[in-house]
Amino acid sequence: MADQLAPDQSAPTARLTTRPQWLALQQHLVAMKPRHLRELFAEDARRGERMTAEAAGLYLDFSKNRIDDETLRLLFDLAKACGLRERRDAMFNGEKVNATEQRAALHVALRAPAGSRMNVDGHNVVPDVHAVLDRMAAFTDQVRSGEWKGHSGKAIRHVVNIGIGGSDLGPVMAYEALRDYSQRDIDVRFVSNIDGTDFIETTRRLDPAETLFVVCSKTFTTLETLTNAHAARAWCLQSLGDEAAIARHFVAVSTNAEGVAKFGIDTANMFGFWDWVGGRYSMDSAIGLSTMLAIGAEHFHAMLAGFHAMDEHFRSAPLERNLPVLMGLLAIWNNNFLGADTVAVLPYAQYLTRFPAYLQQLTMESNGKHVTGDGKPVDYQTGPIYWGEPGTNGQHSFYQLIHQGTRLVPCDFIGFCQPLNPLPVRGDGADEAADQHDLLMANLFAQSEALAFGKTVAQVEAEGTPARLVPHRLFEGNRPSNTILAERLTPHALGALVALYEHSVFVQGTVWNIDSFDQWGVELGKQLAIRTANELTGANEPDLAHDSSTNTLIRRYRKTRTP
Ligand code: F6P
Repeated sequence: MADQLAPDQSAPTARLTTRPQWLALQQHLVAMKPRHLRELFAEDARRGERMTAEAAGLYLDFSKNRIDDETLRLLFDLAKACGLRERRDAMFNGEKVNATEQRAALHVALRAPAGSRMNVDGHNVVPDVHAVLDRMAAFTDQVRSGEWKGHSGKAIRHVVNIGIGGSDLGPVMAYEALRDYSQRDIDVRFVSNIDGTDFIETTRRLDPAETLFVVCSKTFTTLETLTNAHAARAWCLQSLGDEAAIARHFVAVSTNAEGVAKFGIDTANMFGFWDWVGGRYSMDSAIGLSTMLAIGAEHFHAMLAGFHAMDEHFRSAPLERNLPVLMGLLAIWNNNFLGADTVAVLPYAQYLTRFPAYLQQLTMESNGKHVTGDGKPVDYQTGPIYWGEPGTNGQHSFYQLIHQGTRLVPCDFIGFCQPLNPLPVRGDGADEAADQHDLLMANLFAQSEALAFGKTVAQVEAEGTPARLVPHRLFEGNRPSNTILAERLTPHALGALVALYEHSVFVQGTVWNIDSFDQWGVELGKQLAIRTANELTGANEPDLAHDSSTNTLIRRYRKTRTP
């Protein structure tokens, strides 16, 4: 296929906003926009059962979206016209769907079972994937059992992952999410920021003799990661005093063996991956080594099985029951038709504390694009802004705006039916059967209900509210949300959840006809930072050729910086 970003030849190649299917949705919006979720639910007593779908252990309730059956039909028509099925197949077939970098985006191969086939350029990559997984598992077993000794003969008790972006956010999110499954006598930490504080605070009070650094960088050229890795190396050598120590205290995860060797890490201690794995799609590759060290190989494989179950569902389920397709198309409806600029991700699970941050890179680095695959400016909004916090904490901070502010903020609620840490509710009058988890989930259900249905003037007045306060206590409702439920936060459930979002991002990118797998937008800042770094130090002020604001800021910094 010459240009993988263009829809297949059987689909019309019209500009998105002139496609008949897009225009039909705009027409439909006229009828849908004034409709309230109260009416939609009142008209169909089974809506909350009907507008649901289930796969890979995840249950999606999308009934609280401002849609009817016709909306869905039109969205599926749009997806078909944009060549969703063909492009999905192209991705699974290892075609170069990342056209601007001429690469495949075959992260689905990272979780393909041993013995299956997935080709890139005619080469079956599944055996390569499993060879690395096996090496990771062997190394993990050695570290977790204490067989792997540090330079002075002590076992490893601290693992510090050094990486940034996809080489940090996935591992840290997964470690936090699966902490319940972790070996508690191995403590896993993460250094990402080039701010020296991150390294200093993370390694404070760690014993270098018991510390293993996992340096993660796909390219092994990233300034932050290499700088922190050098700091780690110096920290280690200062205490252990011997170059030979590096081999026992440093491993690397990268696609760049030459860079790893140049840094001084023996490539025997390197775990590889491939250019067909994007950074933000890499937490299930060797980039997940710190996750595996924490939770063990068996749990890591269970996570991969969860990813794979969602992949298979995405690949084979009809569009109408396909969770990533539904999530992706509803995101398009909310964004491009209802005009919502953001999506709030609200996990009712403390362990998912870093999930919104992880999703920010996955969604915004993927779909924050201003041109189509063939370089034409888009005339519609692309990726919305993702943000969020675990419930119930967010309820006491920003939910006010979601309930009563002037903006429409669609929400993704995520919850689990069984707690990992049961804790009976205590206190006067507490229901003896109740667990704190019941209160957590009661809050989730209450929030999505309140957002959808609100409170009418009549209801507020019936509560005896003084007239002057009625407008303040009114809840308009009609705020859309999805609810994703799983039985329990297991490695399998986490894998399925991440794959759900990965593929939902893909669905959106396909409809928008953008390249969801490149990230040119981060380059300019990087280049300017390198140039500017040289101007901040040195005895004599260099000739500054920036704009007057940047020049003045640099001069002020030079005068004030710690010499
Ligand atoms: O921020 C840009 C980016 O390239 C991300 O896409 C990537 O995850 C991150 O930098 C880190 O890159 P690397 O793994 O090559 O160090």
